[in-house]
Amino acid sequence: MKFKTTPYHFDLLKDGERISAFYEAINALENNHDLAYDLGCGSGILSFFLNPYFNKIIAIEQDVKSSICAEDNLKQFNNIHVLNEDVLTHDFSRKADLIVCEMLDTALIDEEEVPVLNHARKCLKKDGKIIPEGIINIVELASLERNYIHYDENVNCEILSNPVIYDEINFLDEINPNFEKVITLKANKNSLVNGIKITTITKLNDNLVCGPTPMLNPPLLIPLDEKNVKCNDLIKVKLKYIMGKGIGTIEANYY
Ligand SMILES: C[S@@+](CC[C@H](N)C(=O)[O-])C[C@H]1O[C@@H](n2cnc3c(N)ncnc32)[C@H](O)[C@@H]1O
Repeated sequence: MKFKTTPYHFDLLKDGERISAFYEAINALENNHDLAYDLGCGSGILSFFLNPYFNKIIAIEQDVKSSICAEDNLKQFNNIHVLNEDVLTHDFSRKADLIVCEMLDTALIDEEEVPVLNHARKCLKKDGKIIPEGIINIVELASLERNYIHYDENVNCEILSNPVIYDEINFLDEINPNFEKVITLKANKNSLVNGIKITTITKLNDNLVCGPTPMLNPPLLIPLDEKNVKCNDLIKVKLKYIMGKGIGTIEANYY
């Protein structure tokens, strides 16, 4: 099947690793459920995958052009209803078996996954599920080439510490968007540190995880002041941000 898309959603569709992770997670569902929400449906690709498993799918997309594409792509399926709406103002009156929401970005800082799930989660049935199920955030000390916050899928930085899992989020739980933590990292060589690298792993379900792909959670590089460190030094970094409010909210300093 050929999908009509915007250029951005075409890039999302071309990211085979991202698409297969969601396809596999949806394929692991049992048949014959009542209702699924596809939040931020874009081109409608995830509703297309959900179609055999649900009597009804409500696909919500705030971007007009994308929702027109989704409506056209999915018009042959009577059980899929595309709404051009902001999820944050949608009245979730019907209980659902599943929410699919791919508004992911590294550490959930720049996109609306957290506010959207905090608004929508109440519509889930008691044993309802969310795909993806959650995320794991990892941080490392690094030597960066650029002195500003940026995403880098080609990872142009040298890693200078052990990796530390600093946060794990289960999407079924209410999420506090205000993140703040002091993280201790162990330097792995004598070097000049000038930043940190954040990597986010997506947990699609209990058995399936997906690391960064070109269009899903590229590594996030955050500068720090330059600091000479010796191998095995313990370096404390205070990291602070607001999930869903953008990379402008990031603060990272030695502690
Ligand atoms: C990363 S794209 C994923 C698109 C599609 N689900 C896929 O996997 O290819 C996220 C989509 O969420 C939409 N979106 C973001 N915030 C939204 C909101 N508050 N309400 C509705 N759609 C939203 C964006 O316009 C974008 O199309």
